[in-house]
Amino acid sequence: MVVVNRQRIPYRVPTFVKWAGGKTQLLEQLKVFLPDHIDRYFEPFVGSGTLFFFVKQHLQPREIVLSDSVAELVNSYQIIRDKVDELIDALTLHKKNHSKEYYYRIRQTDPASLTAVGQAARFLYLNKTCFNGLYRVNSKGIFNVPMGRYANPSIVKPNVLREAGALLQNVRVQKRDFSTIVSEARQGDFVYFDPPYYPLSNTANFTSYTKNPFLEDQQKKLCTAYRELDNKGCLLMQSNSSTDFIRSLYKGFRIETVRARRIINSNAMKRGAISELVILNY
Ligand SMILES: C[S@@+](CC[C@H](N)C(=O)[O-])C[C@H]1O[C@@H](n2cnc3c(N)ncnc32)[C@H](O)[C@@H]1O
Repeated sequence: MVVVNRQRIPYRVPTFVKWAGGKTQLLEQLKVFLPDHIDRYFEPFVGSGTLFFFVKQHLQPREIVLSDSVAELVNSYQIIRDKVDELIDALTLHKKNHSKEYYYRIRQTDPASLTAVGQAARFLYLNKTCFNGLYRVNSKGIFNVPMGRYANPSIVKPNVLREAGALLQNVRVQKRDFSTIVSEARQGDFVYFDPPYYPLSNTANFTSYTKNPFLEDQQKKLCTAYRELDNKGCLLMQSNSSTDFIRSLYKGFRIETVRARRIINSNAMKRGAISELVILNY
């Protein structure tokens, strides 16, 4: 397998959502591991989709399937793809009305009472105005992050949304568990896995995007899926944290290291550059 994209290509990634574990600052390092050609591209932990947007622009796969377990995130991708102008109008209204009182009113609105466009606008409005762009829900699945302290949060960027919408044309986006990939991907398909990272320490709290934490059992299940896809002849790339546990799970595969700036600990003194793994089967 030939490695491409060593050269600097100008690109813009239309990141429309703030997402924990977003890959923007790692893209320069990750793109060198991509294969030269991708026919079918799968990203089963898509989050803000940084690598997808790059791959769509530069490798133009014939078929793309993105998925994630967060239903509201997936709905937003679908609305950006199918109804971007309506979404921009709805977000513009949120921007006009934004205040502390308004934030908490929108936060407590039941998404099920809204249209799909209304749900996407609510999700993106809260994402841009909440504390640190965190996505956290309570045991009933209700978003519960307090408002952030931004003087002038950028609630709607029409150009970014339109650019993302254009790149999402003909892309399938689905809410589903990563494990469903095993029955769908076949020989020659490319899969990029970027799971919630295995924690580096007891206090690191990367895994709590959803009600279901992604700990040892899930990491082992992911490793089983990775091995099954490897046996099928898929091309596999995975980001994960640099821990003995993850290294031992993927023993025998090619393991590369990249450097990332990350908040790895609740103690601000322990924030800084850390190593992350890129696990490849080619
Ligand atoms: C590290 S983030 C991905 C970040 C992404 N690469 C980006 O650039 O923003 C991990 C993602 O996995 C999703 N996730 C967590 N558990 C999942 C599961 N069991 N199946 C599918 N997606 C899951 C989370 O909702 C989150 O979006």
